[in-house]
Amino acid sequence: MAREEGTESHKTGSLQEKKEHARHNAFLFAGAAGLAGLMFGLDTGVIAGALKFIGLDLGADERTQEWIVSSLMLGAAIGSLLAIPVAKYRGRRGAMLYAGFLFLIGTGLCALAQSVAMMIAGRVVLGVAVGFASFSAPLYIAEITEKKARGKMISLYQLVITGGMLLAMFSDSLLAYGGHWRWMLGILAVPTVIFILATLNVPYSPRWLVSRGRRKEASHVLQKLRGTRDAAEAELARIEKNIRREQGNGFTLLKKSPGFRKTFVLGITLQMFQQLAGINILLYYAPHLLEHLHFSSSAAIWCTTLLGFANMAATGVAILLIDRWGRRPLLLLSTAVSTVSLCIFGLVLFMKIDGMAGSIAIIGLLVVFILGFATGEGPVPWTMCTEIQPLKGRGLAIACSTFANWITNWLISNVFLSLMAVLGDYGIFWLLAVFNAMFFVITLLFVPETKGCSLEEIEERLNNDVRLRDIGQPVSHDADGKGFPAGAAAERG
Ligand code: GLC
Repeated sequence: MAREEGTESHKTGSLQEKKEHARHNAFLFAGAAGLAGLMFGLDTGVIAGALKFIGLDLGADERTQEWIVSSLMLGAAIGSLLAIPVAKYRGRRGAMLYAGFLFLIGTGLCALAQSVAMMIAGRVVLGVAVGFASFSAPLYIAEITEKKARGKMISLYQLVITGGMLLAMFSDSLLAYGGHWRWMLGILAVPTVIFILATLNVPYSPRWLVSRGRRKEASHVLQKLRGTRDAAEAELARIEKNIRREQGNGFTLLKKSPGFRKTFVLGITLQMFQQLAGINILLYYAPHLLEHLHFSSSAAIWCTTLLGFANMAATGVAILLIDRWGRRPLLLLSTAVSTVSLCIFGLVLFMKIDGMAGSIAIIGLLVVFILGFATGEGPVPWTMCTEIQPLKGRGLAIACSTFANWITNWLISNVFLSLMAVLGDYGIFWLLAVFNAMFFVITLLFVPETKGCSLEEIEERLNNDVRLRDIGQPVSHDADGKGFPAGAAAERG
């Protein structure tokens, strides 16, 4: 008896150990993919501090500087579309590896650039890499993590992006003393090589392997990730079932389903307004703007790092709140705070408040705007765009909304300096305030609450063609089985 008990506890012990080891593996692989987010943040954030010195050295006027900044976003828009076939045929891991090599080539071109053309070419290559990374890494993370950890893992990915931006701003601030822009850009080769080495060591995602008919390999990877053969086989069966359900054409669904048409347009709208809110104007041009507002160049660059810090800290807070408060309250609060802070910011510039009071007001209001943005307008569109789309149309809808995000980002960062020259520094911020106010109204009227709903529940409500705002509410069924939202059920009596 004693011997049997011993064997039993030994067995459980080793089962526990296997599971622990598997969890460790999953964490490690997701962490490696998370480095793609760090690269994304580093490469988009680094330009803020480097721009002025690049402009001086390569002789780039303001219009050319706009192209240097925004060419990366154009590359990312192209990359986000190219990433779809690459991730499908070469795997998510393959797309991340391509991203790694493109990051390396782009970094080399930019750091060694002898002309504006070479710099812009390098930035486009970096952009394609960002597009690849921003499509394939979250997909990879979602496909290797367990269901209960998925939401948190994707949100953490957003935190890593803002962390990358902050790190780049910080290293820019240190290197700014000698105007070492080539070092600012070139140093990013170090994390890039680490990212490539880490990606070489992750397995293919089991879901992708199944979709390519490589079931045996998928089972092997799943055993590494879940610890036991039984758990791996159960998940494999679920993956196969889901892949069958997903089959179908997104374009046909768009023609046939009014529900999908609504979520498709909502996804694109959310992503466009996220960019029209104006965050990247600040993140990419903050030192330029602050020097224009009479800050010394070292104060301007350190204040930019402060903005990067506020962005990361508030993203962390949003991760804690998004599943407690829900998406709608966060977005309403965030758009309201952004609108008000930008209105007052425009007013401070309009009244030309100078001296210490003016400087404190400027930095204070920019920090409030960033805190507002990062608690809702930043993370909610990304989260919601994956939640509201029906399975058969998810690929198409996410591709289009991500493309809309990058194209709007490109547009706004391509015209900022020119528009500021036309509208005046206060005028451009009032224009941004109008966009934020429109985002508030759109949220109020159309954005559903998806907190705590499973993707299947949302899909069922979409099939029942309920109002966009109600797709997050439970559906009741009447006698003939037709579904309608519970709120409407109460109205029916
Ligand atoms: C969001 C935006 C991105 C922006 C970032 C700032 O992720 O999509 O464009 O740079 O927030 O934190």
